[in-house]
Amino acid sequence: MFNRILYGGDYNPNQWPKETWTDDMLAFKKAGINSATINVFSWSKLQPSENEYDFTELDDIINMLTKEKYDIVLATATAAMPGWLYKRYPEIGRVDYEGRHHRFGERHNFCPNSLVYQKYASRLVEEIAKRYSDNKQVTCWHINNEYGGTCYCDKCEKAFRVWVKDKYRTIEAVNKAWNTEFWGHTLYDFDDIVVPNLLGDGLGDGRTAFAGLSLDYKRFNSDSLLNCFKMERDIIRKYDQDTPVTTNLMGTYKELDYFKWAKEMDIVSWDNYPSYNTPWSYVAFCHDLMRGLKQQPFMLMEQTPSQQNWQPYNSLKRPGQMRAQSYQTIAHGGDTIQFFQLKRSVGACEKFHGAVLEHANTTETRVFREVSQLGHELEKLDGLIGSQNKSRVALIFDWDNYWALEFTSGPSIDLRYVDQMHHYYRYFCDRNISVDIISTEADLSLYDIVLAPVLYLFKDGMTESLESYVAKGGKLVTTYMSGIVDQSDNVILGGYPGPLKELAGIWVEEIDALAPSQFNLIKEKSHGTIGKGTIVADIIHLETAQSLADYQTDFYAGSPAVTKNDYEEGSVYYIGSQLDDDLLSRIFDCLVAETSITKDKSTANGLEITTRETDKKRYTLVMNFAGEPVGLPERFVGKKDQLTDKAITTPKIEHFGTYLFVEENKSLGS
Ligand code: GLA
Ligand code: ZN
Repeated sequence: MFNRILYGGDYNPNQWPKETWTDDMLAFKKAGINSATINVFSWSKLQPSENEYDFTELDDIINMLTKEKYDIVLATATAAMPGWLYKRYPEIGRVDYEGRHHRFGERHNFCPNSLVYQKYASRLVEEIAKRYSDNKQVTCWHINNEYGGTCYCDKCEKAFRVWVKDKYRTIEAVNKAWNTEFWGHTLYDFDDIVVPNLLGDGLGDGRTAFAGLSLDYKRFNSDSLLNCFKMERDIIRKYDQDTPVTTNLMGTYKELDYFKWAKEMDIVSWDNYPSYNTPWSYVAFCHDLMRGLKQQPFMLMEQTPSQQNWQPYNSLKRPGQMRAQSYQTIAHGGDTIQFFQLKRSVGACEKFHGAVLEHANTTETRVFREVSQLGHELEKLDGLIGSQNKSRVALIFDWDNYWALEFTSGPSIDLRYVDQMHHYYRYFCDRNISVDIISTEADLSLYDIVLAPVLYLFKDGMTESLESYVAKGGKLVTTYMSGIVDQSDNVILGGYPGPLKELAGIWVEEIDALAPSQFNLIKEKSHGTIGKGTIVADIIHLETAQSLADYQTDFYAGSPAVTKNDYEEGSVYYIGSQLDDDLLSRIFDCLVAETSITKDKSTANGLEITTRETDKKRYTLVMNFAGEPVGLPERFVGKKDQLTDKAITTPKIEHFGTYLFVEENKSLGS
């Protein structure tokens, strides 16, 4: 996609006196910066009034960056609207969950179904695309910024009714899907439909009285914003057919179905803002999810070189941490390293957000030195671009499931979708077994193991694809709260886990909820390991499956908690309660032992080892996130670290130490 690793980030020279720009350029050059993301929030400057555009300053910025041979990531500036537009057309502002109509302020707050917003945004994008599409230094189009949020205004309500009619055709079908007979909500006309915010069916704690309705509203809102993205992309395409178009995503952000979005994007890009105590495996998980959206390398559009401003505690990244986290990004499929931002803001709410150039306004800072070191290292690594991560384990992630699980009332508020996904991912991450995060539509035949935990909402076609995967020898892992409801959150009757019953060889009669202080002891049979089951406990009946572990306490003591069923050539593991780490490891150790997947025993301690490969080369990145020096597997000792060009002589790696080993790819043709 790109000829070199883009290294740079958001740059807002428009916020600074012009005389300072030359110094910025000199400083950035010193750090090996070769790219800038510009024009993200410049709409009001570009268009001072309804019929007046002024590109003088943007021309100057683009000319300067072009002269300096920057790769320009050019944003379309539609994420923050000018005050005059609000004043004239208040309807462009959103109505929120509480029903309040928003006025001029903040950003990311346009109503996606406002024709006025669409008209003025299109006009702006048309001007920008026309003006700059011939510039060869424009390497990527950055549409809008961090699309998100939800609007509940009258225009959205009207558009939603049309969306619903398109999907269901008749009001009877809507009533059936949303189970409106419950609480006497029967609808007789599409105009009876009301948006599900707090003034309607929303319950105020993220839950809803009618999940069928609320789920459809989520889908609709995601589609509405996606239409805005497509609108801008199509305008750009009229003027520029080749340059990749992206918008910056936000990892596990709940409101948008990113698998659907990714189909419309040329390359995925995302903003990575872990907090000081985010587990490194969770960051790895987010990267893998972003890679999984297109099963392709991605751009890291934003990260802070030092600290954020918007978290409760904005700790500095410790010495070496930014470098290690940048390589972790690359290891999981990142082809660019971009910062927010290149120069720290002088005022407003982001003045405490870290940047390459800090308020001290000198290159003699720790942060600048670290940015420079990384910049010069990356200059040697362009060969890595486009290399792939190869995984034999896949984890199914699905936004419909995310929404449905968290809308539903019961059995436990502790069932959080992303936590659940991370819980099952972590075993593999800790052992340096690469995991692809895939959609419900992905080709499962590529994997030895498919993890489908908490597959609560079961889509049409899933039964066939999972059955054929297992029948051909695949190993499927699924858990409590799977196969429970259809696409509208109506229960699939006949015992849980609905369509998975036959594959899993069990049926679940009841689901117990375990409050935070409660647990059920579970004994694993092959080693006699005893551990805890928490959050929920399925009461399972065996059909063709065997029990791998039984509950030890309460009225269901002695009944199965974890089962395994052989199904044609493959097998299905069913986990009935959230197992503690030791117990889950026991089960997963057996699972992995049935495949030829190798795991790094020595590394379940925060040492990450990840490989990307091309036909010719294998790039192995080793990073230590353990919080202390740890042992380096012997196979690396004596090898040359390509980042420093030095041979590794000690069998220890420092905290945040990072090495890159490159070797010929011999697996070709094997
Ligand atoms: C987001 C935005 C940026 C900036 C950063 C600060 O990612 O896209 O404009 O506000 O957060 O962390
Ligand atoms: Zn709206």
